[in-house]
Amino acid sequence: MKRIITIDDDMVVIIKKITNIQRKIDDLEEKGKRKIVIFGCGEHTQKLLDFIDFSKYELRVCDTIKVGKIQKYEIEKPQKELFLWADTIIISTVFFYEEMMEIIHLYGCNNKVIKLYDFDKDKVPFYKTEVSIDADVSLDDIDIADENKYKVWTIKGSGKKYEGTVERAFFNSVIKEYFLNYINQDDVVCEIGAGTGRLTVEIAKKTSFDHIVAIDTSADMLNVLESEIPVETRVVTDEKLPFSDETFDKVVACDVIVHFSEWRKFLREHTRVLKKGGLIIYNICNDDHAKMVSDNKKIRGWYFSGKRSQYVTISREELEKECKCNGLVLEGLIPYGLLNQSGFCYGNMSRAEMMHLTQLYRDMFKNKKIEPILNQIETKIVKELPDWMTFFNICVIRKL
Ligand SMILES: C[S@@+](CC[C@H](N)C(=O)[O-])C[C@H]1O[C@@H](n2cnc3c(N)ncnc32)[C@H](O)[C@@H]1O
Repeated sequence: MKRIITIDDDMVVIIKKITNIQRKIDDLEEKGKRKIVIFGCGEHTQKLLDFIDFSKYELRVCDTIKVGKIQKYEIEKPQKELFLWADTIIISTVFFYEEMMEIIHLYGCNNKVIKLYDFDKDKVPFYKTEVSIDADVSLDDIDIADENKYKVWTIKGSGKKYEGTVERAFFNSVIKEYFLNYINQDDVVCEIGAGTGRLTVEIAKKTSFDHIVAIDTSADMLNVLESEIPVETRVVTDEKLPFSDETFDKVVACDVIVHFSEWRKFLREHTRVLKKGGLIIYNICNDDHAKMVSDNKKIRGWYFSGKRSQYVTISREELEKECKCNGLVLEGLIPYGLLNQSGFCYGNMSRAEMMHLTQLYRDMFKNKKIEPILNQIETKIVKELPDWMTFFNICVIRKL
């Protein structure tokens, strides 16, 4: 009986990758290679150590920072001597991947590298979700069943996990108010992708609990929401909504449209169920901002790699065009998050950079003194800036 606990949204992905590493290690044995350095000392390294028998090898573990606990191994600094000593280097990380590759490159040791993840090619899990199973697992039997990233929200336990990790500080002090500003007391509201309900509960408090219906493709996410607040919920399978035309005064979606390249389909369906004069309120990722950052060598060279993120971006022009075709008018595109994790360069960071910065901001937000200052800057200054100043925008659309 083997207990597998992975921090990935799809535990199969990590097991599959470890299996590949196992094969590469078996090859090393044939080539007489015995000195291995694992670069990266987080949870993935612990998984490697749990699954692979390194006892035949001389093994050392190093990292740029000391995180996590690696059983039995002293974490060393990534020094030249170490990499020259090794005849194989395993890069085991989701953080600082590029930084690690740069160091390896600097010491001319690229030819020794085995990668756990390859960020250039891999579809890396989007959210960290804890999944655990107690079972007899034959690694050969496991395959990647479904690489769809939305699976992260539908797998068992994802609701609880999401609820435990979803960002609250910035949401509560800034974003929530941006949505609520457009909601009136007697509105009937449809919330798309309500998830575990961090926005739903706020809207229900402003209107009433029988004035909002929460839609999601994930029953697991909605289960958490239902256990907290008595609102109507509906599980859907795609963008289609089980409501007749012109049912709602407002249709809202928070952190949803940012994931859909087929956002136009959503907009059309939301327009259908919206009453004339009603509003659609989303947060979206501004493509003009993402372009501005990636075209600007100074900004790009300063810290970020300038790679485009996996979020779906929409330009003002595209949005206005789509609105026009559907009898809608774009009333507002409000920038937010200039100083927040989602802020200036989020659309142009590699995954490793994004995760690193997110962690820094999470830590920063633990300092409660910062919250009101940030709130003031956001709501008094940032929202008055042009929409292309930040990656995230609140978008307000009216049906004519
Ligand atoms: C990032 S979460 C946001 C949840 C919530 N709105 C919040 O702000 O915390 C995205 C949500 O969209 C849901 N979702 C994905 N595809 C959907 C679809 N086609 N229709 C409705 N919801 C969907 C997911 O299940 C998930 O709950």
